[in-house]
Amino acid sequence: MPAFEDSDFISPPLSPKSGAEQQQRIPSISARDTSLPVGSHGGNLPIPADGHGRNAIEVPATRSSISDAEAYMHQLSLSPSMKDRRGSRNSFGASLPIPRSKRQSRLSSVHYPDGHPVRPGMPPIQPTREILAAQVQDLSHEKVRAAKDMAFVFDIDGVLVHGDRLIPEGKRVLEILNGDNELGIKIPHIFLTNGSGKPELARVQQLSKILHSPISTDQFIQSHTPMRALAEYYKTVLVVGGEGYRCREVAEEYGFEDIIVPNDIVAWDPTIAPYRVFTEEERATSRPRDFTKCNIEAILVFSDSRDYATDMQIIMDLLRSENGRLGTMAKDPVSQRIPIYFSQGDLLCPTEHPFPRMSQGAFRIGLEAMYKALTGVDLERVVYGKPELATYKYADEVIASWMEEIHNDERLPKNIYMIGDNPASDIIGGNMYGWNTCLVRTGVFQGGDNDENNPANFGVFKNVLEAVQAACKKELGDNFRFEFDETINPTQVKGGVSAIE
Ligand code: G3P
Ligand code: MG
Repeated sequence: MPAFEDSDFISPPLSPKSGAEQQQRIPSISARDTSLPVGSHGGNLPIPADGHGRNAIEVPATRSSISDAEAYMHQLSLSPSMKDRRGSRNSFGASLPIPRSKRQSRLSSVHYPDGHPVRPGMPPIQPTREILAAQVQDLSHEKVRAAKDMAFVFDIDGVLVHGDRLIPEGKRVLEILNGDNELGIKIPHIFLTNGSGKPELARVQQLSKILHSPISTDQFIQSHTPMRALAEYYKTVLVVGGEGYRCREVAEEYGFEDIIVPNDIVAWDPTIAPYRVFTEEERATSRPRDFTKCNIEAILVFSDSRDYATDMQIIMDLLRSENGRLGTMAKDPVSQRIPIYFSQGDLLCPTEHPFPRMSQGAFRIGLEAMYKALTGVDLERVVYGKPELATYKYADEVIASWMEEIHNDERLPKNIYMIGDNPASDIIGGNMYGWNTCLVRTGVFQGGDNDENNPANFGVFKNVLEAVQAACKKELGDNFRFEFDETINPTQVKGGVSAIE
């Protein structure tokens, strides 16, 4: 397995505690039960006081109202923070395979909002404009070189869209980067989202419509996209999360041979999930078999669980089984445990609801706490997605490959700008990877001048358009124009020698 190390980051993270140290830090359940004097923790719950309940008898608690969860929290589950010098949720030594080849021919496809077939990655422009732009570019060598030496990496939710709703500046930004600029040049950009749950092609089709711009799967990374590399390691996998069977489709496209989803297991034995109401349609579309006769080699949480109770129960059964065989219980919870991977670690996600909703990170922490409570040991697991190093390394591959697609020049531009709304994923990851980082105010971040724990190094901007314009001005000159002049006469273009005027 490839071994990426957190030390690859520019700022080294804190040394993690050894397993033994952690065990020492966290008292065992029985030790805590007997060592805590009754009422030693006050707690602040608004518990009814004497005389408030007319028809109730109030029985005083005999124990503290302080939650037990802290003792079960994995040390690396908390939000990553530059302040703590920690940027990864994974332990040292964890391996996160990413695809060796960035060319994903089976997935590769460009989608145009109006279905108009033009060159991959290029906007639907008139041939005359293409010729005109080529002439302008011929006369502006340095600016062209600078435009090809920069790239943008866009977070999606909270930067370009909110769910299915367009952030208007996002549409304009893509027009500019797709050629509506003074050079008529395509400025390289890719999309890097912790979003998940459907095949890449389906997601770019949806995005392309919302943003009114062509988007290719070759410039697009979802949280689970790099996890296709795991298909080389595991044959039989449990895939968790997402709507219906969309994540099964994702896993099929990634090349996994034998894919099981929780519905297949519930259809085989409904008693495994006692609170689940299983519809006839779900039964008809599931693929049950005798799961006591096969070993599930790994658990892959691709997207948010739609049914915590069922998914957590099945995952816990598998983690505690002998090498992934349902119906067994391992004698040693560690050596016989199968690996579990999560596609991203965000605790919260902004949605249409006024307050952010719990995301995969919260689901994972719940699992870790349950696992620790049931076995007494920490759950080792691997988390992909921003801000993990593996995801950023994969992004480099995709940028270089996209450069070849649009400029016939497969290399990594020098000046990369990450534009994100979440300091704890987009910004910390970009900072630690040596990129320029821009934090926008259209999503998760609602703070003051900059984020205190994970400040954006290029600045905080009202929206994505302001961030892109500031970055372009820095690289291409203050007077760089964000519009292509269709009436330009290339023979009269002056001052094309310097990118910074
Ligand atoms: O947290 C889940 C996801 O919706 C975040 O997406 O594009 O902001 O990385 P994004
Ligand atoms: Mg976001």
